[in-house]
Amino acid sequence: MINFNIPPYVGKELDYIKKAVENKKICGDGEFTKKCDAWMEERFHAQKVLLTTSGTTALEMAMLLSGLQPGDEVILPSYTFSSTATSAVLTGAKLVFVDIRPDTMNIDESKIEDAITDRTKVIVAVHYAGVACEMDTIMDIARRHHLIVIEDAAQGVMSTYKGRSLGTIGDFGCYSFHETKNYSMGEGGAIVINHPEDNEPAEILREKGTNRAKFFRGQVDKYTWVSYGSSYLPSDMNAAYLWAQLEEADKINENRLASWQRYNDAFAGMGELGLPIIPDGCKHNAHMYYVKLKDLEERTAFIAYLKEHGVQSTFHYIPLHSSPAGKKFGRFHGEDVYTTSESNRLTRLPMYYGLTKEDQDKVIQTVKDFFEQ
Ligand SMILES: Cc1ncc(COP(=O)(O)O)c(C=O)c1O
Repeated sequence: MINFNIPPYVGKELDYIKKAVENKKICGDGEFTKKCDAWMEERFHAQKVLLTTSGTTALEMAMLLSGLQPGDEVILPSYTFSSTATSAVLTGAKLVFVDIRPDTMNIDESKIEDAITDRTKVIVAVHYAGVACEMDTIMDIARRHHLIVIEDAAQGVMSTYKGRSLGTIGDFGCYSFHETKNYSMGEGGAIVINHPEDNEPAEILREKGTNRAKFFRGQVDKYTWVSYGSSYLPSDMNAAYLWAQLEEADKINENRLASWQRYNDAFAGMGELGLPIIPDGCKHNAHMYYVKLKDLEERTAFIAYLKEHGVQSTFHYIPLHSSPAGKKFGRFHGEDVYTTSESNRLTRLPMYYGLTKEDQDKVIQTVKDFFEQ
């Protein structure tokens, strides 16, 4: 069976984990946590980056730092992972789902403004497949209505929009380093903080409501409980695993992009398949390669055929507005023109660092065979 995903491993991960153990500092904010934060700040030109225990908790931090109160509204696409929504729901906010664009599967920026009410506080831009949302328009709407923009860039590490790294364009950005992502630490993530005034509240929130970060920098002589908080700081052993991959970030990115391009070239002439579209100005990170079938029925047969012939593929995201929790905590604004119909067509093919040409050829051939049978 050709796996849909194999977690990234470049070779030095175990050496670095050993080093973290030898440092006698395996909790958070040790050598490797700091190295990862600094690397991302420099590489992405980010004001501040803090590793977190997951992409989900990075989103939770961003929602809390946005000051959401019960009854406030958060605008987001329905075609996304549950964490985009549940992080907002934890604050007591209500969800307002907006339709997606069929070309990128991202929120349709032209439908956001109509969904704004006097309770709206946050817009979440989910960069699906590491392909950027139309950020100029989204930022313009947000500024005119005094709204906060959170970029769910869980899938968008190393992607850019008009030359700017995803995560650094809105007010907050959230990355995931789950094992299914391009760079991994098992479970983990990071929050990108784009305004300096949010740095200290973020450090406090991440460190159980204490000013411990300030204490370690020698800025206060003892640390104490100063605000609400939680435990969002990952172990330095996990950061050590990630550090090995950040050192090889370009190599991983190029390898994935090459696999993505091979799929795209192989399927280019096939009218039966819808292929991903990358808008001008967007540089993606080959987080995934998906194809779109005619409809749900054809997709079901397609996935079953691939499985029967040794290829693991997957669909995902039952639109949140049709899920039990989505109905309870949110509403869909406007018409669902593309969210349900396009999500029913989409299938993700095997894509991971180190996918061999032989395996990829087998996937490509099996896809072609499906249409010839
Ligand atoms: C769009 C999106 N948001 C949030 C998350 C949550 O990230 P994590 O699994 O690291 O909590 C994911 C990852 O699965 C995701 O794809």
